[in-house]
Amino acid sequence: MFLEDVKIIENIQIADNYYLMRVEGDKMSQHSKPGQFFMLQCKDRSRVLRRPISLHNVDGNILEFYYESLGKGTKEFTKLSIGETINIQGPLGNGYDTDLEGKNIIVIGGGMGMAPIKYLIKNLKDNNDITFIGGGKNVGAVKIMEKFDFENIKLKVTTDDGSVGIKGNTVDILKEILKSQNKKIDIIYTCGPHPMMMAVAKIAQENNIRCQVSLEERMACGIKACVGCSILTKKGMKKVCYDGPVFESTDIVDVDMVDPNGGCNNE
Ligand SMILES: Cc1cc2nc3c(=O)[nH]c(=O)nc-3n(C[C@H](O)[C@H](O)[C@H](O)COP(=O)(O)OP(=O)(O)OC[C@H]3O[C@@H](n4cnc5c(N)ncnc54)[C@H](O)[C@@H]3O)c2cc1C
Ligand code: FES
Repeated sequence: MFLEDVKIIENIQIADNYYLMRVEGDKMSQHSKPGQFFMLQCKDRSRVLRRPISLHNVDGNILEFYYESLGKGTKEFTKLSIGETINIQGPLGNGYDTDLEGKNIIVIGGGMGMAPIKYLIKNLKDNNDITFIGGGKNVGAVKIMEKFDFENIKLKVTTDDGSVGIKGNTVDILKEILKSQNKKIDIIYTCGPHPMMMAVAKIAQENNIRCQVSLEERMACGIKACVGCSILTKKGMKKVCYDGPVFESTDIVDVDMVDPNGGCNNE
């Protein structure tokens, strides 16, 4: 884990409130894996807590962050210019298990859950067969996908309003794929709104498919030093910042408690 001032080389609006920041981070880029996150410091020191943001991509010595401008901290990030520095801490957390070869994989990203997907796919695509289902509430929410490398990947896009791709949600597409596919799916990776991930996890468990979910909890320290991000799992209390954010769905999801259709739209 590193703590460094890194130089911003790009910070652009992708659509609506969605932004992409690229920074130079030599050592950090060498030691980061998909699904890990960084704690980004605000320049306004009245905002004491750093903001947890997933690693979106690594491109040489460049780290990418895809973020949504919501509250005061992330709004401040949108104002940062090329050449300025930002203090970042990471990589943090465990990341997805990408040590796989020759597997039949489904990756599902919904809304801001698209953040860790670009680097995940990049790591898996050369050695595995991948179907990616990407969903968002509207065209702006899936615009970032234009920057992904989908070569050799089967792609399905959904939006809640039908402004691009199939009108509907990622979970319905997953159900259709599982019905029509005769090849066994080895693993599903997902990141997105909680109800969407829980619905995906339920379907995975019912079909006996391994599933990794990336959880989001409010975080104060990001480094296991407080109890801000503790959750109760089937293996006891776990800290999302340290034991996660990626978990095996079977460790956290009681399938009987999940409504398969419950609020599983893309945002
Ligand atoms: C592991 C992890 C990875 C994340 N990756 C991304 C990402 O790649 N892109 C992205 O846009 N967002 C991501 N988030 C959510 C992001 O951290 C929050 O949207 C952001 O911290 C909100 O800060 P703010 O300044 O906009 O809001 P404020 O309301 O000003 O935040 C106040 C405080 O609450 C915390 N907080 C508020 N919402 C959240 C939240 N959803 N999760 C955790 N802390 C929160 C803030 O960090 C801050 O300490 C991630 C969260 C986690 C836990
Ligand atoms: S955020 Fe402090 S322990 Fe996880």
